[in-house]
Amino acid sequence: MENGVGPGVFGALSMGYLVAGARNLADWKRFGCEAIGLHLACESESQLAFRMDEHARRIIIERRDADDAIALGWQVNDRAALDIILERLAANNVSVEFLQGDQAAQRGVLTLHRFVGPKGLLIELFVEPLTDSKPLQILSSGFNIGRAGLGHISVMSKERDRTIAFWRELFDARISDRIEISSGKRVALDVTFLRVNERHHSVAIAATRGPRIDMFPTRVQHFNIEVATLDDLTATFERCRALGYKMSRNIGRHPNDKELSFYLPTPSGFEMEIGWDALVVDEAWWESDRVYDRMSNWGHDIPGALSTELGLRHVLTGIKSLRREEFLPW
Ligand SMILES: [Fe+2]
Repeated sequence: MENGVGPGVFGALSMGYLVAGARNLADWKRFGCEAIGLHLACESESQLAFRMDEHARRIIIERRDADDAIALGWQVNDRAALDIILERLAANNVSVEFLQGDQAAQRGVLTLHRFVGPKGLLIELFVEPLTDSKPLQILSSGFNIGRAGLGHISVMSKERDRTIAFWRELFDARISDRIEISSGKRVALDVTFLRVNERHHSVAIAATRGPRIDMFPTRVQHFNIEVATLDDLTATFERCRALGYKMSRNIGRHPNDKELSFYLPTPSGFEMEIGWDALVVDEAWWESDRVYDRMSNWGHDIPGALSTELGLRHVLTGIKSLRREEFLPW
């Protein structure tokens, strides 16, 4: 399965959609349409859905009592690859639900299989998306989605090794590289970047060194999307600021995927990273054992007052997490 040899699903899937819960859909509508510049595909009392390309839905927001990520949809290239994944789930005694008709249409797909993934985030697998050919009304020239999928998520885990093993065993995910932030900083962190196709990472797993704590109250720490051009990135940054949104991290460049990006909180509690120019992995020359000692080559600074506030909040959330079990499917 490794190195593209033998049957496997590496390269046969990509991130398809994100579903998040929010108490306030009006906040999300403003954030999605006016700040990020997404296409509002549908709006009801209980749900919002946004398009970013020809897929009928890429980001879905459901009215809930809690702000958090709910589900991550993965597009699988064909039935054969889907069957391999379903066989792996069955072998691990994971109960899988099949949805079709209106329930699947709510996710913008024809049918889907789903199960409860790490930290309770639903993992949903689909082959055929529903599409919409109506012109996009977005505020960027486009989003970089294509065959490598929507973007990536970053998750903090108290069960780092088991979580990495889960993604490797389920999706044949490969480790792209790691970032180890050394002691001397406030918190020593190790981040492992996993890819399932040419996108440098679709899932990043962050873990504290020493006692394992989870400093974030949401299942996902951040969700990344990429805009098409540098002008799109800077225009989105300026638009968010002009609308009064506070940045969690100003513009900067990551050392490993080389992505230029900024971060801001979403109305669902987790952050969104808006990026551009992330590198594409060429399997022929990629070396997976690179370890970087910083999160950013430059920039990504946290605004001063927010830095102190976030530091305190993260420590308190981290202490509470010591009493909490972290769910894993196996
Ligand atoms: Fe990221």
